[in-house]
Amino acid sequence: MGEQAPGFGFSVRRGSSIDFDAVSALRSAVAAEGLWIGAEAPVEWTTQRREAWCRTADDEDHGAWFLANDDTAQLVGYLLVTRAGAERADLSMAVATAHRGCGVGGALLDAAVAWCRAAALSKISCQVWPHNGAALALYRSRGFLIEGRLRRHWRRRNGQLWDTITMGLVLDEYSPGSGLADAEVIR
Ligand SMILES: CC(C)(COP(=O)(O)OP(=O)(O)OC[C@H]1O[C@@H](n2cnc3c(N)ncnc32)[C@H](O)[C@@H]1OP(=O)(O)O)[C@@H](O)C(=O)NCCC(=O)NCCS
Repeated sequence: MGEQAPGFGFSVRRGSSIDFDAVSALRSAVAAEGLWIGAEAPVEWTTQRREAWCRTADDEDHGAWFLANDDTAQLVGYLLVTRAGAERADLSMAVATAHRGCGVGGALLDAAVAWCRAAALSKISCQVWPHNGAALALYRSRGFLIEGRLRRHWRRRNGQLWDTITMGLVLDEYSPGSGLADAEVIR
């Protein structure tokens, strides 16, 4: 980490709450596109929510931030890992419009997955809108599988209810499962 990626001038580093304003600005810009992430513009922050975000940046028991900066030190991408209990984590990420398709998202995800493995997490999850082909392709390229479609799951500000796709990367394939057979109703 911190190394220059070949062929494109960006580097990936760990973030901290000092980076909150830059991350928030990029997230707001992507939210304003209205298509890709759960947040909608204008993004509103309560003090409590801001503090919770900052905890995920500064305390590894809560999560970790991975940031990509270009040669001019401008933030061009972020990936936030939020721990969900002792063993699982949820991801959210975005890359600035002008820098998509250049390897930034892949580099951020590789760094985050490595961190999750080192932290001995058993699974990483994320939610993706069904129309978001770039995100579905990115997660798939790193081994995430589609686990389901949650129907009419998220209310948008315009009143629509959007489906979401849940994807997961299992890191612990070795612990035993329950061993119990599925109920007939879902076979
Ligand atoms: C999804 C997103 C993070 C991908 O980041 P990116 O920097 O553009 O992705 P990369 O250039 O690193 O590509 C990573 C992989 O995804 C695939 N990919 C990226 N964009 C793609 C597209 N538009 N169509 C198909 N595949 C795509 C690439 O083939 C690549 O695979 P490879 O590493 O095996 O070559 C970026 O498009 C983005 O920020 N979108 C808006 C916000 C968003 O959707 N966030 C995720 C919400 S779940």
